[in-house]
Amino acid sequence: MTPVRVAVLVSGGGTNLQTLLDALADSDVARVDRVVSSHAAAGALERARGARVPTSVLADPSDAAQMLTSLGDAGLVVLAGYLKRVPPAVVARFRLRMINIHPALLPAFGGPGMYGRRVHERVLAGGAAISGATVHYVDEEYDRGPIIAQWPVPVRPGDTPETLAARVLAVEHRLLPLVVLELAKRGVPREPVRLFPDGSAFAAKNELSVRLLDE
Ligand code: GRF
Repeated sequence: MTPVRVAVLVSGGGTNLQTLLDALADSDVARVDRVVSSHAAAGALERARGARVPTSVLADPSDAAQMLTSLGDAGLVVLAGYLKRVPPAVVARFRLRMINIHPALLPAFGGPGMYGRRVHERVLAGGAAISGATVHYVDEEYDRGPIIAQWPVPVRPGDTPETLAARVLAVEHRLLPLVVLELAKRGVPREPVRLFPDGSAFAAKNELSVRLLDE
């Protein structure tokens, strides 16, 4: 089986990218083929170079032609801390082959401007008892594409945006490689995939069995 070529879009420090680099390093199912950044100062680029993965920086992230050239013939595109809107022509080219990770349980606490600390502030202000991470397909709107998988975490008394963000980031780092490997194992199907927690793994089952994770 030829490994699925994964292109990763980044804007930040790249801890999610790092979990993919580590999880796919010896995989014959998928491999990180290139890293594309919305700006040259993203810490994620250093991580890619450290793993000897080709990198590029978008001069204009809203330019569809430029992004299509940067993504090339990737079999799967992953937005890992990527903060720009993806041009519609790129979304169309990679329909159901482009996914994003978001640090909340969508459809709540998503949308334009909902990233980083602000997400966790809103979750706490809303009095939510659980939060978590969501991996979803990317469409023309921020954080609205079909959900693939979610992993919940408890909101604990006394939580600050920082303590909640750290708890969510820990499950982001488990969820994203799991979903990428599951999609690659299935050959990145042209039909939406929905994955549900099943013990410590994920299974494409039609019964919901969510459980709160204990740290
Ligand atoms: C993560 O919480 C991610 O969900 C969000 O940005 C944060 C930082 O990601 N989009 P990373 O360390 O750059 O992967």
